[in-house]
Amino acid sequence: MKCIDEIPVSGLKGKRVIVRADFNVPLDKSGKASDVFRLKKGWATIDFLAKAGAKVVVLSHIGRDPEETLAPVAEALKQFGKVVYVPDLLGVAAHAAVNTMTDGEVLLLENLRRDPRETENAEDFAKDLASFGEIYVDDAFAAAHREHASIVGIPKFLPHYCGLLMRDEVNALKQALNPQAPSFAILGGAKFETKAPLVRALLSTYDHFFLTGALANDVFKARGLEVGISLVSKELPTEDVLRHPHFLAPVDVTVELPHKQAQVKKPETVRNDEKIVDIGPDSVAQIAPFIEQANFILWNGPTGMYESGYTHYTQAIAELISHAVERGAKAVIGGGDTIAAIEESGMDESRLGFLSTGGGAMLEFMMKGTLPGIEALN
Ligand code: 3PG
Ligand code: MG
Repeated sequence: MKCIDEIPVSGLKGKRVIVRADFNVPLDKSGKASDVFRLKKGWATIDFLAKAGAKVVVLSHIGRDPEETLAPVAEALKQFGKVVYVPDLLGVAAHAAVNTMTDGEVLLLENLRRDPRETENAEDFAKDLASFGEIYVDDAFAAAHREHASIVGIPKFLPHYCGLLMRDEVNALKQALNPQAPSFAILGGAKFETKAPLVRALLSTYDHFFLTGALANDVFKARGLEVGISLVSKELPTEDVLRHPHFLAPVDVTVELPHKQAQVKKPETVRNDEKIVDIGPDSVAQIAPFIEQANFILWNGPTGMYESGYTHYTQAIAELISHAVERGAKAVIGGGDTIAAIEESGMDESRLGFLSTGGGAMLEFMMKGTLPGIEALN
């Protein structure tokens, strides 16, 4: 995987460079980008290329509904620098805009998923997109687990490089595949059935492993406890996971009572009309010593339901990690809700190690050690 900073500046000046970014950001109720973390991290590559005098054609998807538009992204990108936004992908307007670009200009085209051939990974679509550039740069680490045309198709037609963010993500996560001991991993989220292989991989690689979020409900259920109306997975963890010497699960939970008040209690006392929405203080105290001693910490997935505002314990763990980072430990943290919850508390990368833009991509990389988008750059 060659990175763009290996191209001599003379090789970029005046060149049309396609940058596949992942600007798939959440939107608020008014349709504005509510979290610009991916834009901020992705801007470095665009800025590097524009400053080198390239004509930068930026491609991204947003959401899963093909009707969605990158207009809110174009608006939010203004805080980082100048971007010309053309709400067209392969039509007359897009071609006209690409053909009249000046050196150092940044052009953002419309949502790639407007065309079904993007997710179908159609070769003719990739070829048409490739015609917009002379060089292809993949900076979309967060989408590198998708075998889509803009990710694995375009590099078949153009000289291809990774962007600065892609390079940093892969380097950080390579360390996470082989963490320096003592190591500690935290995995939250839902759908145990999709995460079972990752859970087993982390149990064997990391010295201690804490399963949290809705995945912890699966642990309680597998242990025969009442979980009320909490979210549970289709498949539950089996004894090899539950009895693994590296395995840890929450020792207390926050539940929402029928009238939405929250209460902290032991998992053994959850009632059938209650919903588990977060861990509790004893669980944070339980894992604190592991974080304090760790040389490497990997974390993906908040402890509680971010969308319902349960961020307190996620932020408490981030605070513990910031102290570990301060004394020299390495940390890699990812997942959209995890990062959003952490950023709401005012903490950032300078205090927390590496914050990954990857959600599913980070998890899949940890399972397989590579991703289709990375392989396509070889
Ligand atoms: C993500 O947010 O995980 C990536 O942007 C990929 O999006 P997708 O899950 O809709 O393919
Ligand atoms: Mg190749």
